[in-house]
Amino acid sequence: MTVVVPYPTLLSTVTGVFAARGVPPDRARVAAEALCHGDLTGVTSHGLVNLTRLYLPLLDSDRADPAADMAVTADLGACVRADARRALGLWSAAQAVDLAAARAARLGVGVVSLRGATHIGCAGFHAARAALHGMVGLVASNCGGQRIARPPGGLEPLLGTNPLALACPAGERHPFVLDMSTTVVPTGRVRAAARAGRAVPPGWLADDSGEPVTDPAAFDRGEAHLLWLGGRPETGAYKGFGLGLLVEVLAALVPGAALGPVGGGADDDIGVLALVIAPELLRSGFSGDAGRLFEAVLGCAAADPRAPVTYPGWPEGERARWRREHGVPVPEELYDELRAVAPALRAAG
Ligand SMILES: NC(=O)c1ccc[n+]([C@@H]2O[C@H](COP(=O)([O-])OP(=O)(O)OC[C@H]3O[C@@H](n4cnc5c(N)ncnc54)[C@H](O)[C@@H]3O)[C@@H](O)[C@H]2O)c1
Repeated sequence: MTVVVPYPTLLSTVTGVFAARGVPPDRARVAAEALCHGDLTGVTSHGLVNLTRLYLPLLDSDRADPAADMAVTADLGACVRADARRALGLWSAAQAVDLAAARAARLGVGVVSLRGATHIGCAGFHAARAALHGMVGLVASNCGGQRIARPPGGLEPLLGTNPLALACPAGERHPFVLDMSTTVVPTGRVRAAARAGRAVPPGWLADDSGEPVTDPAAFDRGEAHLLWLGGRPETGAYKGFGLGLLVEVLAALVPGAALGPVGGGADDDIGVLALVIAPELLRSGFSGDAGRLFEAVLGCAAADPRAPVTYPGWPEGERARWRREHGVPVPEELYDELRAVAPALRAAG
């Protein structure tokens, strides 16, 4: 069963929940947008489900500081290093992109290299802020010292699921937003399947001998590990693992955040890279060319006429457009969780 909640209601409810924990209202609003982005676009592994499982416990245990301000520790103009000082990552990653975009608007490129962050949610939400200004945005985040995935052929986990996102305007169309974990799926999708009692496809999980595991509950029992994009070495696992390490380098090694392989095992002191390029400062005609590029992708002949070819970001853009108008489906158990922490929603009945 699902409850369909008007998007403005969902947003104001979550904003209120964060504000009640001491997050200043304007930041609570951005954090709520970042969280609700998951349910709005259909990326439910990183939406409301994480409110009571991740973000409220972070605030309640003091691992996130609701009122912290980002401190700039080095400023070279186009390149800034900053410490998020345990502010809510849902907000501070957006702030990092906005600062990078402001620098890019002046200098053509802006890089904000952030340490001390907490979990940022959907990396694509943050990257897409650059596309709103006609710019190209890249966001990468490691998982602090947390170790989830093993190197191909390894027996010990070393890295997190290290998300990577790139957003680019696409003319009149929904922006291109590639937004992905560098493991084949994030842990949230494995746990969602376990909660629903649904088997996962072969290729997500493997046991110690490398055999595919389709029972998602085996992951939290420690009987299966998460694979990198590409799956096995012979099907490209080193590309996924390499992308995971690429994120670790760009997002965490550069700013001096916690590193999975040598960190303390917790997802604290997360590192984030926000890179924004302003192509219109380099040449004219970028916007028109981008429109033509993505229109050509949408125009590609489809193998199945009922399933037109799309590009990353397009399905999420369509879903969000529909749900902004008609409401966001929220599973009943999640709605009950939200009501339990949101007095405003309880009062509304
Ligand atoms: N903060 C963290 O620590 C963390 C860690 C891992 C993942 N995440 C987030 O988890 C979310 C989900 O990641 P995921 O790897 O499960 O993503 P996914 O597999 O759902 O999608 C990956 C990409 O493929 C595209 N795509 C999928 N189906 C498509 C289709 N039919 N047509 C066109 N494009 C399509 C999507 O637009 C997306 O860009 C992301 O928002 C990611 O940032 C966050």
